Amino acid sequence: MKPLFPQLPGPVGVFDSGYGGLTILEQIRRVLPEYDYLYLGDNARTPYGSRSFEVVYDFTLQAVRKLFGMGCHLVILACNTASAKALRSIQMNDLPSWDAGRRVLGVIRPTVECIGSMTQSRHVGVLATTGTVLSDSYPLEIHKLFPDIVVTEQACPMWVPLVENGEAKSSGADYFVEKYVSALLAKDATIDTIILGCTHYPLLLPKIRQYVPENIRIVAQGEYVAHSLEDYLHRHPEMDARCTKGGTCRFFTTESEEKFMDSAAIFLNEKVRVNHVSLE
Ligand code: DGL
Repeated sequence: MKPLFPQLPGPVGVFDSGYGGLTILEQIRRVLPEYDYLYLGDNARTPYGSRSFEVVYDFTLQAVRKLFGMGCHLVILACNTASAKALRSIQMNDLPSWDAGRRVLGVIRPTVECIGSMTQSRHVGVLATTGTVLSDSYPLEIHKLFPDIVVTEQACPMWVPLVENGEAKSSGADYFVEKYVSALLAKDATIDTIILGCTHYPLLLPKIRQYVPENIRIVAQGEYVAHSLEDYLHRHPEMDARCTKGGTCRFFTTESEEKFMDSAAIFLNEKVRVNHVSLE
């Protein structure tokens, strides 16, 4: 039977609902600069955070299929909402019938793995999109590894729009940053570690730090995802051999190329070239 996807080695695929995954990509490229990358942002249909399970699953599946079709053997879902709502189904139901050798990895597990050694009080807070909070993915994944940790979550529905609209540093952002941080700490005053469970939130970090007491550690996930990927490629030489190493990075968006180039600068501090793709 003819294979569904190209068989030659290819770039590592990095997928996000929009721009936020660029914060993860940046850290991955810092740790693993020798690999080739292909970033796909579904900017035309972002945000995913408020969408249903079925829709996030459908959209994510389309993106993964596209990235496999473009030659990727390994795809990172650099989006918490897609990792929370689609990853498990794709791994269990779709990959085995498409191509058992290809892999899709998410960002929640690598973030959660580092938490056990960080918290002393064993009380951890999670700030995330409404969709990620409703999925219960963080508490479920944390309890698989550390059943003793108490997890408290707070949805921050205004934070993604603030970042997407270039307002992360504005004085107007303070109101919503303070609002959600206070709401989280009011639910559990013994939290000593807070996970930023959304790709956009590292851009709000300077403001978040202002409203979080100094003794509380804030975990931005990019660094942990990058090191986890490095570890994965060491442990899986067969996958490493399927990933090309030319140090390149190409960008694709479902929105207009002009719009992506302007907004991506907020996340990358550089102008990038991008090509439009359609997903269906
Ligand atoms: N990338 C998403 C996440 O990490 C945030 C943006 C969205 O809601 O689509 O959850």
